[in-house]
Amino acid sequence: MEDNTISRRDFLKNLGMVGTGVLLAASPWLSAFSDVKETQKEKCRLAIIGPGSRGRFLMSFLVKNPKVDIVALCDIYQPSIEKALELVPKAKVYKDYREVLADKTIDAVLIATPLDTHCRIALDAFDSGKDVFCEKTIGFTMDECYKIYQKHKSTGQIFFTGQQRLFDPRFIKAMEMVHSGTFGKINGIHTFWNRNGDWRREVPSPELERFINWRLYREHSKGLMTELACHQLQIGSWALQKLPEKVMGHGAITYWKDGREVYDNVSCIYVFDDGVKMTFDSIISNKFYGLEEQIMGNLGTIEPEKGKYYFEDVEPAPAFLQMLNDWENNIFDSIPFAGTSWAPETANINNGEYITGERPKSDGTSLLLDAFIEAIITHKQPIRVAEEGYYASMLCLLGDQAMTEERTVYFPDEYKLDYLNHKAKRF
Ligand SMILES: NC(=O)c1ccc[n+]([C@@H]2O[C@H](COP(=O)([O-])OP(=O)(O)OC[C@H]3O[C@@H](n4cnc5c(N)ncnc54)[C@H](O)[C@@H]3O)[C@@H](O)[C@H]2O)c1
Repeated sequence: MEDNTISRRDFLKNLGMVGTGVLLAASPWLSAFSDVKETQKEKCRLAIIGPGSRGRFLMSFLVKNPKVDIVALCDIYQPSIEKALELVPKAKVYKDYREVLADKTIDAVLIATPLDTHCRIALDAFDSGKDVFCEKTIGFTMDECYKIYQKHKSTGQIFFTGQQRLFDPRFIKAMEMVHSGTFGKINGIHTFWNRNGDWRREVPSPELERFINWRLYREHSKGLMTELACHQLQIGSWALQKLPEKVMGHGAITYWKDGREVYDNVSCIYVFDDGVKMTFDSIISNKFYGLEEQIMGNLGTIEPEKGKYYFEDVEPAPAFLQMLNDWENNIFDSIPFAGTSWAPETANINNGEYITGERPKSDGTSLLLDAFIEAIITHKQPIRVAEEGYYASMLCLLGDQAMTEERTVYFPDEYKLDYLNHKAKRF
């Protein structure tokens, strides 16, 4: 086992899944591992379309999986091909993805190209009989996402998306706790992803600016929503087991005024049918608060990125000590002794508990890929894995629409699926 991977057997054992299937209610896509035989010899033949930064990261896990051969690489940019060949020197190289799809010996494709190219490649791949892993966000528009999802259903090909938290042990355990009522009724979810950097890649010559820095330009990307929000909005609907009805928000370029077209500062509020809200905020000129999903119930709060949870009913600090503490921390210039109105509602000092005993070695990426390979070999689409990716993509595009049109946007009826009613399917 490598440092950054975790074996499937350990993963399931640590989660208490061996023989019990107890977590399947909260994370039904784990069915991908339910009838796997470790001794299975069959291999799948995979092509990587767009082995850029993310594509090569995914390849670094795939080359360790004995059940897959990366037999082809396809990219229109030679430096990406050369770097990818270092991982799979024997792979056949293509410049046009349609030639990859024409090769009948290839079982599946992994698409890690820029967002605006996903739909065309994914639809053609399904049509040519390939199983598909498509990086998030799956489509550039809601209509594209819907077409990709429908094509998966009509062709019966396996479909996975790049939502690795679905297979992250911390998140799986966290959701089991949320769904079993450990934190009471969830009344709000705050998500945020903050960075401090311009998000630019080095460009070897000026005419390549939009090609290399595609995520900064609206013809190729919806910026922070499609690059970051996609993960956190998926977690919100996973926690609440439903989709928000509507979203409102605001986006602006407030710091990185360098010619980019996508917002560097966004805030969205997603509202569920009962008024519960999930927020997403992102600023890329301050990283103090980093990233988190704060899932808040009346009995407690869970923060899966940090891997911790906190109950509400901790022993409060004695008032006098808290006052001294606040004074020492310069919250007050002097100690006011008249009455109790001095006590501000600052957060309790509560160090919380860890979700899993030790910090897991996997963020879910290797297990997500393992599950994809198992699904190809067994021809069995795990329960709701495609739907989670579909909804996550739809929600970030919905948020982008609310911000660009500066209005409340409702989830369109024509794009709704029956969220919970999806079963494993053997094709
Ligand atoms: N799941 C995650 O956590 C995660 C993380 C990072 C990126 N991503 C996603 O992965 C995708 C790729 O991101 P990246 O950072 O690797 O981008 P990148 O620019 O580093 O890589 C994209 C590659 O696609 C190639 N390409 C462009 N058009 C092509 C075409 N028509 N045919 C073949 N190749 C083509 C480019 O030359 C490049 O090598 C994006 O959708 C991004 O959102 C997901």
